[in-house]
Amino acid sequence: MTPRIFVTGATGYVGGHTTGELIAAHPEYQVVTLVRNEEQAAKLQSHWPAITTVVGTLDDDKIIKEESAKANVVLQLASSDHIPVVKSAIAGLATGGGKLIHISGTGVLNDMSTGPGNPARKVYDDVEDIKEITSLPETALHRDVDDAVLTGGSLHGVDTAIICPPIIYGVGQGPIKKRSMQVPFLSEAILKRGRGFTVGEGKNIWDHIYIGDLAKACVLLIEEALKPQGGSAQWGSEGYYFVESGEIAWKDVAEKISSITKELGQIESADVDQLSVDEASKFHPWAPVLWGGNCRSRATRLQTLGWKPQGPTVWEALPAMVKAEVDALAK
Ligand SMILES: NC(=O)c1ccc[n+]([C@@H]2O[C@H](COP(=O)([O-])OP(=O)(O)OC[C@H]3O[C@@H](n4cnc5c(N)ncnc54)[C@H](OP(=O)(O)O)[C@@H]3O)[C@@H](O)[C@H]2O)c1
Repeated sequence: MTPRIFVTGATGYVGGHTTGELIAAHPEYQVVTLVRNEEQAAKLQSHWPAITTVVGTLDDDKIIKEESAKANVVLQLASSDHIPVVKSAIAGLATGGGKLIHISGTGVLNDMSTGPGNPARKVYDDVEDIKEITSLPETALHRDVDDAVLTGGSLHGVDTAIICPPIIYGVGQGPIKKRSMQVPFLSEAILKRGRGFTVGEGKNIWDHIYIGDLAKACVLLIEEALKPQGGSAQWGSEGYYFVESGEIAWKDVAEKISSITKELGQIESADVDQLSVDEASKFHPWAPVLWGGNCRSRATRLQTLGWKPQGPTVWEALPAMVKAEVDALAK
């Protein structure tokens, strides 16, 4: 039987790029995407003629349940912070027997114990530290939804995997949204401010992943999900996958963005100022987490499955990302 994959978020940055990778790798799959309206449906279908679209939102319990019940895999890439979609998907999958792959984010690990802009030592390995990762405090970002996935899956006998990316870089190749978050938000803030900045000294550390490598990790998990007994992947309490290709300090990113922005003639100096949390928050309300904390993960579980990041480095990808922000502001 043709595998049926129900994707949420295909209009978005991660979902759009990943759906493209999935269709390219597996034209034989039947891909069904959730869209908010007919306009989005038309855009996706003109880009990927073979897909099916379903109009609805993450809050449409009946639609999510019905589509999840029919799917072999639900790839939930629309939101890391939406509990109802997780509950509806698990309820549907419980009747149909498919598996859930849900996107979280390493913001869940955010560590500011050393103060904003300072490095913190703690690194979370998704194999060694799995119990700690899946029992982080309820107050941690995305943690309530991670818990809804893990608890709901266990309660209803549904296999689940959580894929947890850090900074995602690269311009997306999906048909609608192509813009990631942290790097574009910082580029936009630097352009608007006219000078580069860090939160504090900017020595705080995050991991990063190229959008194409994240997409490939999702495709790999889908392939495993479709094998008998979920293949070699782990599901449920151990089905937690970080996805990273290395670390950066935000100071280095801010310096590189500033020098690209200067080269593009958008700012006069490539110097980078140190801002307080309050000052940085004027440019984005999430500034402390986006650019001021530490989120350090190790993707051991995916590497064990044979996944290897192959994409361009973050430094190679930054010029196109910054240029996209310059172009967007010029419109
Ligand atoms: N980008 C990153 O660097 C990053 C890193 C780690 C984790 N994540 C997490 O991954 C998730 C996706 O990120 P993204 O960058 O791909 O975001 P995005 O570009 O905004 O894509 C999300 C997509 O999901 C759709 N969507 C959201 N809420 C919906 C709802 N209630 N009903 C129907 N559709 C809905 C949106 O549709 P509309 O366009 O119609 O609103 C959008 O196209 C986010 O929750 C984010 O926190 C992202």
